[in-house]
Amino acid sequence: MKLLVIGSGGREHAIAFHLKQSSLVQEVYCAPGNPGMQADGIHCLDISEMDFESLIAFAKEEQIDWTFVGPEAPLFGGIVDHFAESGQVAFGPSQAAAQIEASKLFAKRLMEKYHIPTAKYQTFTDQKEALKYLEQQTLPIVIKVDGPAAGKGVTVAETLSAAKNAVIQAFGKEDGNQRIVVEECLEGPEFSIFSMVFNGKVCHSVPARDHKRLEDGDRGPNTGGMGALAPLIDISAEIYQRAIREIVEPTLEAMAKEGTPFNGVLYTGLMLTKEGPKVIEYNARFGDPETQVVLPLLKTDFASLINNLLHGKDTDVEWDEDSTCLGVVLAAEGYPEKPIKGIEFTLNSVNNPALKIYYAGISSLDPICSSGGRIAMVTGYASNKKAAQELVYHYLKEQKLEKIQYREDIGDTV
Ligand code: AMP
Ligand code: GLY
Repeated sequence: MKLLVIGSGGREHAIAFHLKQSSLVQEVYCAPGNPGMQADGIHCLDISEMDFESLIAFAKEEQIDWTFVGPEAPLFGGIVDHFAESGQVAFGPSQAAAQIEASKLFAKRLMEKYHIPTAKYQTFTDQKEALKYLEQQTLPIVIKVDGPAAGKGVTVAETLSAAKNAVIQAFGKEDGNQRIVVEECLEGPEFSIFSMVFNGKVCHSVPARDHKRLEDGDRGPNTGGMGALAPLIDISAEIYQRAIREIVEPTLEAMAKEGTPFNGVLYTGLMLTKEGPKVIEYNARFGDPETQVVLPLLKTDFASLINNLLHGKDTDVEWDEDSTCLGVVLAAEGYPEKPIKGIEFTLNSVNNPALKIYYAGISSLDPICSSGGRIAMVTGYASNKKAAQELVYHYLKEQKLEKIQYREDIGDTV
């Protein structure tokens, strides 16, 4: 098979790399990809992830069997619908189904209607009313901007003034059509499950955890994710099954009943509260950086798994649940607010098959030259969490890293 991956980050590097491991796959192209992928034999194309016309033309010309869409922006833009209209196959949700991520309100209403456990909420289109409402609430409280926020639209406010600021900022940005969701703050460990879905057939991943805050000890600003690990020893098989049964499956059924059946990867972000698992958020795609630690645990051939789903074949999925994969993100100084670009450095070559580096915001590989906030993720695969941490941190300690920030405590919270 010849496959195309859309996107350019660490997640897409992992997707393309693992598709390429399959004996069924001859070539993997990535649009636009990054120079780190090229070193793994993935062909990068000079086509933007939003240039649907050129992507479709390429898929037709090269007789691509199917396309895997990594990031949310093309999904929100309707890439899967465009591909289908042109007779091409793209694995991902339709624009209508991608609303589960694009609109917090769509997601909240769906959960309310189908009794899927989540935080209690109120929506506002008026700043004054939202501010008044905040006065009567207990703290902390969560403010979510409706609309595609790329992970940056959520404020967990510890004080009333922080909550009010978040509301004022949300309404300040837009033209009067702004909508926000104010919701109860949930407490407990977070985990996520990725469900690969096509026309009613579903394969769920092991649970994974992302570390969203910039600094050690879960302090500092929220980021796209500074590290991840999977599977999780603090999420029992019973809790995991309960989350699948009470949340993920009802969500997929609800989407079908609403006339927006979900295909592609459903990311269910959960919190294990005292009352059981509840939804924090949905995404319409794999998580970044969770994908980089989840796909290495997949024992089933990834390309054949997706291919079977796309062809309506039953498929069993098998994960290595007895090992741990853990990854630490290298981010540019200034990330997440204003990452400096053009940082040059090299990383020692890796000779251990248990260590793998997935690249993201780089414009060259040798030397590495940074072009984005998250530059690379160093992942380690070992028999347990501690061994995986040792593998990754031992490697990182040997590198000369200036103007680079990374967390020293990935995996410590479990
Ligand atoms: P998101 O951008 O939707 O991924 O949310 C960012 C982070 O905000 C989540 O990973 C949670 O840690 C936190 N968060 C979102 N909603 C809530 C909530 N209702 N209660 C507590 N924390 C939340
Ligand atoms: N790591 C969280 C996300 O991909 O949204």
